[in-house]
Amino acid sequence: MGFDLAGLLADRQGQGYELHARYLNPQRPRMLHAIGFDKVYTRAEGAYLYDRDGNAYADFLAGFGVFAVGHNHPAVRQALHSMLDAELASMVQFDCSLLAGLLAERLLAKADGMERVYFCNSGTEAVEASLKFARYATGRSRVLYCDHAFHGLTVGSLSVNGSNEFRRGFDPLLPDERIAFGDLDALERELRKGDVAALIAEPIQGKGAHVAPPGFLAAAGKLLHDHGALLICDEVQTGIGRTGRFFGYQYDDVEPDIVTVAKALSGGFVPVGATMAKSWIFEKVYSSMDRVLVHDSTFGSNAAAMVAGLAALSVIDDEQLVANAEQTGKLLQDALQDMCEEWELLAEVRGRGLLIGMEFGKPRSLKLRTGWNMLQAARRGLFAQMVVVALFQKHRILTQVSGDFMDVIKLLPPLTITETEVNLFREAFTDVMTEAHKGSGLMWDFGRTLVKQAVTR
Ligand SMILES: Cc1ncc(COP(=O)(O)O)c(C=O)c1O
Repeated sequence: MGFDLAGLLADRQGQGYELHARYLNPQRPRMLHAIGFDKVYTRAEGAYLYDRDGNAYADFLAGFGVFAVGHNHPAVRQALHSMLDAELASMVQFDCSLLAGLLAERLLAKADGMERVYFCNSGTEAVEASLKFARYATGRSRVLYCDHAFHGLTVGSLSVNGSNEFRRGFDPLLPDERIAFGDLDALERELRKGDVAALIAEPIQGKGAHVAPPGFLAAAGKLLHDHGALLICDEVQTGIGRTGRFFGYQYDDVEPDIVTVAKALSGGFVPVGATMAKSWIFEKVYSSMDRVLVHDSTFGSNAAAMVAGLAALSVIDDEQLVANAEQTGKLLQDALQDMCEEWELLAEVRGRGLLIGMEFGKPRSLKLRTGWNMLQAARRGLFAQMVVVALFQKHRILTQVSGDFMDVIKLLPPLTITETEVNLFREAFTDVMTEAHKGSGLMWDFGRTLVKQAVTR
């Protein structure tokens, strides 16, 4: 009688793929079946997922970066239990929530230069707010963005998306303008037109794991300010310790006007996003009492999200996860870097902290070049997909190709990982590279299957 979660999960276990095929995005189960990722996970803890047979999978994807503190962190769970038990008045709308104030205070203490916060429910919403704030505060309409940028998929965020495959078919978008990541001349050219509100950029691009060229964001900030425009740093993925600094922009002498955050702030439980900005921007947008709701969200500042955020930030401090991201990230990156010498298919390893990209490239030897060319001719990115599948199937390590048409794998593990996971990954990757450099065998057979799928889809 009544709702019984445990009973429901036990009764319907394993039906997720079928239900998605019938009622949700049908391509998700199709894609997962095609690459053999169609597992049924029943539990998660720390850096590991567990399937219904009890097999452990090292999660180097971390829900696209959501699980910075690991899965089901006991301190965040405890905080959420306490929040429910307290029977709080949440989302009253006509009050000033203490929890939102506390989270704002705590977040701003980590973000030098930022003075106020707007809370919402996702990364793309944090970006939408940043675009609106920048346009209103400057009285200008255009936002510049970078090639390969990813800022979310709602229409405003899509207008500053630097990959055509996401944009195609959704025109007309906002009249924003793309520049190459790092191109200060292009930035200045656009700024001279006098209608630019802001440049939005990620300190490390999620698509391709490209780190902003040294000095670019600092110089861009200065140029923008000289022309009365703003710098928006999108820290949805890089923020909250991921790069080994609390925010990615803190690596250089960057002075953003607006900073967006989401993912890790959720503690892995409750959707949340935040747009931080200088006070004067908020004072312009919310300039009078009748503009109090000019930009708002019903669920923003809800108690569960605020508590999850407070608990997540507390775990990040208590367990010194920012320092761990820097140290363990270096250990992992150094280990992988050494492999570039050894494996001709591995062209480059890059990133910061625990956001690491591994790019594959054309091999020198004839033996490997035939297979490589076959994959490239069908679709760029298939080799990286082969590696992701081998890491998963043979070694139970979950990773992702870091964007369409890219031979780049991105590692985004929880910030809690230790030398154990670094060694696990290093050994698994060595094994996968050994197989790949044979130029034949199971891995390449699967590559041929991918080619067939690519040409018949
Ligand atoms: C830099 C960046 N901005 C925005 C987003 C969008 O976040 P969400 O998926 O929560 O809307 C993402 C998501 O991956 C991201 O990486």
